[in-house]
Amino acid sequence: MSNNTDRIIIFDTTLRDGEQSPGATLNIEEKLTIAKQLARLGVDVIEAGFAFASPGDFGAICKIAEIVGTENGPIICSLARARHDDIKAAAKAIAPAAKGRIHTFLATSDIHLEYKLKKTRSEVLAIAEEMVAYAKTFTNDIEFSPEDAGRSDPEFLYEVLEKVIAAGATTVNIPDTVGYTTPSEFGGLIKGIKENVPNINKAIISVHGHDDLGLAVANFLEAAKNGARQMECTINGIGERAGNAALEELVMALHVRRQYFNPFFGRPVDSEAPLTNIDTHQIYKTSRLVSNLTGMLVQPNKAIVGANAFAHESGIHQDGVLKNKLTYEIMDAQLIGLTENQIVLGKHSGRNAFRSRLKELGYELSDTELNKAFVRFKEVADKKKEISDWDLEAIVNDEIQQAPDLFRLELVQVSCGDRSRPTATVTLRTPAGEELTDAAIGTGPVDAIYKAINRVTNVPNQLIEYSVQSVTAGIDAIGEVTIRLRHEDRVFSGRAANTDIIVASAQAYVNALNRLYGAMQGERQHAQMVGTRE
Ligand code: KIV
Ligand code: ZN
Repeated sequence: MSNNTDRIIIFDTTLRDGEQSPGATLNIEEKLTIAKQLARLGVDVIEAGFAFASPGDFGAICKIAEIVGTENGPIICSLARARHDDIKAAAKAIAPAAKGRIHTFLATSDIHLEYKLKKTRSEVLAIAEEMVAYAKTFTNDIEFSPEDAGRSDPEFLYEVLEKVIAAGATTVNIPDTVGYTTPSEFGGLIKGIKENVPNINKAIISVHGHDDLGLAVANFLEAAKNGARQMECTINGIGERAGNAALEELVMALHVRRQYFNPFFGRPVDSEAPLTNIDTHQIYKTSRLVSNLTGMLVQPNKAIVGANAFAHESGIHQDGVLKNKLTYEIMDAQLIGLTENQIVLGKHSGRNAFRSRLKELGYELSDTELNKAFVRFKEVADKKKEISDWDLEAIVNDEIQQAPDLFRLELVQVSCGDRSRPTATVTLRTPAGEELTDAAIGTGPVDAIYKAINRVTNVPNQLIEYSVQSVTAGIDAIGEVTIRLRHEDRVFSGRAANTDIIVASAQAYVNALNRLYGAMQGERQHAQMVGTRE
């Protein structure tokens, strides 16, 4: 890749920085599902995880490298601290990919050097250089990030960048780790790097930014105008704290305003050639998939992918749009793949019609997944006469959601009303195969169900978020329940969809508990393995 690229390279870090959002923990199968969709979306690089961080991360990167990292697929990348063992693990994890990248990082701001690393500038300079050279012994494609670059002394930053490029870094990424800079400052930082790092033409300048002040995307656009050619972003902007720059916002800003940005890429103003390789029609679907699997809901007023992003509420706006869409719309909803909510199937529809509509919607399910989803479809179609594309999506997302099946919900029954105390009975199959039933009284039916489930599972947790959304309008709509629960300092999410929101609530809770229980088991096994090694 030359650093003179006249487009933006999209580096997606949903599976690494995005997964650092509290409660967004994904298992290997879910990461693979998202990675496949990111490849369909057309991202250039997938940062699939942080190989050294956990056996789960390592396994997910290997699998994504093997299955998604084909010759024509995206580059598969692993993060690594600037340490030998981290870099070695990253190299091993990306090895199955046709094109693999090691992304190593080390902080350069004085505040990080003094309090976190307890190292001098010259020590940091030497480590950065040595670790990039070490990473280079595994692969040619090396990215280096001076963490907290946004608050680093520019003169020291120039020195570090020059050294790591000389040592073999092919991409230098400039992170605004704490989301502190403003657009003109960030643009100025990139300009300064271009002007003051003598060998900068040997590397691509990348940017990475957090949204603590809501400026991440604006910062990136300013960076693009000043020569940055790779942008690190996440779907729906998920990520550490306030999240990362949102891929969909960045891509659509570059697309809708391409005439404004073209000259900064050396193109004629009216060039229609896209500034990224993203297939914008895949944006909405990718957003829904990531939201469903991570349990991170998208706020209704979120730019591009929020439920209200293309809705016109006021009479004046509606009137204008009816006369001419351009009065209040700057882009067509179809551009991001938002189709009309078509009524497509009913209870007489067969497996072939079901399969082919899913295919048209871009879902490629294995035979087992298809069979499971078809059984669910028939159950829903029995209760709900008309099944729309959005219902199909909810059904399929339920089936491909891979919360480990440790506790299985066999029965849920509630009794409630204004004259009775909400009471729930649940039957669960435990991981040991035992069927256990218990009952509880609660402040409402959902509270009663959760108390009854807790009595059976005995996994300590605190419910911190519960939300119900209806997939379509109408009294027979499917309800989607998303919950988040806390165990010690970790958050786990669960999601389920059903025409009965009581059943969906119970299932979402069991899904979240299964993730929590699975993580506890994984940690126990890891501790045992480490114990045996020592
Ligand atoms: O925010 C940050 O600085 C990062 C680096 C590891 C690139 O995520
Ligand atoms: Zn980050």
